[in-house]
Amino acid sequence: MAKTKSAFFCRSCGFESSKWIGKCPGCEEWNTFAEEIKATNSVNAWKKSTRKLVSATLIHEISPEGFEKKPISDSELNLVLGGGLVPGAVVLLGGEPGIGKSTLLLQMALQMNSDVLYVSGEESESQIKLRAERIGIQNSQCRVLTETMLENILDIVAKEPPEILIVDSIQTLYSDVLEASPGSISQIRECTGKLLQFAKETNTPVFLIGHITKDGAIAGPKLLEHMVDTVLQFEGDRHHVYRILRTLKNRFGSTQEMGIYEMQGSGLVPVKNPSEIWLAQRDEPLSGIGIGCVLEGIRPLLLEVQALVSSAVYGMPQRSATGFDLRRLNMLLAVLEKRCGFRLGQSDVFVNLAGGLRLEDPALDLPLMTAIMSSYQGFAIPQGFVFSGEVGLSGEVRAVQRIEQRITEAEKLGFTDMIVSKYNKIPEDPNRKLKIHAFGKVDEVFGWLFG
Ligand code: TYD
Ligand code: MG
Repeated sequence: MAKTKSAFFCRSCGFESSKWIGKCPGCEEWNTFAEEIKATNSVNAWKKSTRKLVSATLIHEISPEGFEKKPISDSELNLVLGGGLVPGAVVLLGGEPGIGKSTLLLQMALQMNSDVLYVSGEESESQIKLRAERIGIQNSQCRVLTETMLENILDIVAKEPPEILIVDSIQTLYSDVLEASPGSISQIRECTGKLLQFAKETNTPVFLIGHITKDGAIAGPKLLEHMVDTVLQFEGDRHHVYRILRTLKNRFGSTQEMGIYEMQGSGLVPVKNPSEIWLAQRDEPLSGIGIGCVLEGIRPLLLEVQALVSSAVYGMPQRSATGFDLRRLNMLLAVLEKRCGFRLGQSDVFVNLAGGLRLEDPALDLPLMTAIMSSYQGFAIPQGFVFSGEVGLSGEVRAVQRIEQRITEAEKLGFTDMIVSKYNKIPEDPNRKLKIHAFGKVDEVFGWLFG
């Protein structure tokens, strides 16, 4: 195949060079050069001849056809995708090595009742077969192709079009028209572009698996995330069995949803009652532990927040947060000092969300602060207590969203007392067994709890 002309361009200032250079002579930036295909004159001439008159359409004349979502049998994936697969949608799934990306998509392919083509550039056919046997093969129409050259893949999908295409992974593909090595920025962009074109032209949903870099971003240009319709992230601690699937971007649904799986010997199993996992079973209450009720998407979740406050013996006090924003922790500690009069300036403070979760719901503020106070005072919070409230800079407990849903979940799991903000409007319910305690300020909560 004839090579198309390509050149290297600086991504920062556009400087052109015939070979790769580390430092741009134009803008003096480092590592900004990427290979691009240069359009030849014949290509330009062809483009001109195919130009046609275009016109804009009135919005009410556009029919929403082709956007019906096709539900998939994997309940969590379905939820995260916003209710099903959209024809022609391109979904990028990112995650750390070994987290279970290939397992998740192969499992989806095997559970579906359609012609799915699973293209792998990472594993051999027999490796995939072995994995499929662990998961259990149900879909006899699932095809496997081990190939890394984009043009060959496109030939096959043109000859025998699949209903769904899965590519594992985008970083292993390469296009023959570029000289850059697989996984380089220009190869990733070129291959994604071509697969995107295939998806849109044939209305075939395409799943791409993407590697992530050391700091957690999807490897390759940020542009990759802009090009695709949906970006999913698969995360969790490799040493824990639970895996969380999140939506970072979704053109066809909400990005609030979260799917939870358990990695078992026979693949990934959706977790039906997530709250039950994160509440450790113990016989007696311990200090430094608070139970919070948070909302992930539409799902209420109860989880354990752990805190440890100890005097800093090595000079600079340490603050560390696992699963929680460190800046928010510092803010909450400042509120404790300034508004409640507790001197934590000379103490180390560690907080941890159970089960390797990472959450951002502001309703975690109150359980976290009470866990910190509980550790500081050495006083355990009674069992059966659950907290849900945001804390403001002046120490006020603020209302949280969808309080009724949180109350229902806490009651379902057998909690007896729930501590919330007095600004949350909670309708009276004579059948409710859960006692609601509403407060306006955090120091009132502490006064009531610790006396
Ligand atoms: P894999 O899907 O290969 O991860 P990725 O594609 O993200 O790199 O899955 C890796 C891990 O999952 C592997 O260490 C083994 C484990 N696993 C199970 O525990 N049970 C199973 O049924 C399968 C297929 C994998
Ligand atoms: Mg893999």
